[in-house]
Amino acid sequence: MSLSLPSSSPSSSSVSSVPSSLSLPAVVVRLRAVGCVFAEDEAELLVSTARTPAELAAMVERRVAGLPLEHVLGWAEFAGLRIAVDAGVFVPRRRTEVLAREALALARLAVGAPRPGRPARSAGPAAVPSRAVVVDLCCGSGAVGAVLAGSLEGIELYAADIEPAAVRCARRNIGDRGLVYEGDLYDPLPASLRGRVDVLVANAPYVPTEAIEFLPPEARIHEPRVALDGGSDGLEIQRRVTAGAAEWLAPGGHLLVETSERQAPRTVAAFARGGLVPRVVSCEDLDATVVVGTLPAPGPAAGGSGGAVVRPAVGIPVGAR
Ligand SMILES: C[S@@+](CC[C@H](N)C(=O)[O-])C[C@H]1O[C@@H](n2cnc3c(N)ncnc32)[C@H](O)[C@@H]1O
Repeated sequence: MSLSLPSSSPSSSSVSSVPSSLSLPAVVVRLRAVGCVFAEDEAELLVSTARTPAELAAMVERRVAGLPLEHVLGWAEFAGLRIAVDAGVFVPRRRTEVLAREALALARLAVGAPRPGRPARSAGPAAVPSRAVVVDLCCGSGAVGAVLAGSLEGIELYAADIEPAAVRCARRNIGDRGLVYEGDLYDPLPASLRGRVDVLVANAPYVPTEAIEFLPPEARIHEPRVALDGGSDGLEIQRRVTAGAAEWLAPGGHLLVETSERQAPRTVAAFARGGLVPRVVSCEDLDATVVVGTLPAPGPAAGGSGGAVVRPAVGIPVGAR
């Protein structure tokens, strides 16, 4: 997850009343006055989203008071999609587009691929490819699942999150293209998915507890702690995900987890302990690090994609890059 959202975060100290009718330049001035770095861009978004002058005034007021822009707008842009994000729900970060892109590439390979116990549904020119089973764990707003469902036909999508507000949001974003469950990690998933998941993606919280206080206020104050706090070293939830993955993955299936460059060696070790063969994908432009693990299967394993740098996982001094 990105922790760099709010360089533009306005301070709440100079809030004053906002006139009921605001022009675009007036909104820019208002946002700039409270230290908003991207005042012009934000003002345009606010003006184009508000349906009435009163709504615009209320939105500007909320932004000036320090709410994340996405919570004020009610949506975030993610991989070209407009993802609904309610107050109290984690705002999907640009860097997570790398996770979505890698998951999409692997899901694409899985659609129609023959798998043990899942024979092709038909043969010949009218063959119907078999569906790939995709799970978005710790789905939050459902942004990653929504990208997969929106980009690829022939996937069976399941998502889950422990936060009721996130689950409600994910259901709106995923709609009838998948099922969204509420509960702790794998607990709410249908038992019938055990051993059948082709792509398991999990952007679990990975901020170490003691680093939470240094997060920008937009995250620290307005996003739920459960979406950020990864325990003492940040990897407690990730380790539970990696420990359980082999039980749910199909042979040759993949687990993808976002992490930080600094934490990547420990994430990689957790993958290996979970019986997965890990590799690291990084994208400097988006400051993104993703670990992809494959459950060994008889026959050739599928590769990755996405245009990001792929590094073998063994012995990489990730922090030294
Ligand atoms: C960093 S946010 C990622 C949300 C979303 N996947 C994204 O990338 O925008 C982590 C999410 O994990 C959820 N979460 C935390 N602990 C969980 C648990 N034990 N079981 C299920 N979900 C959990 C939080 O509610 C939050 O929505």
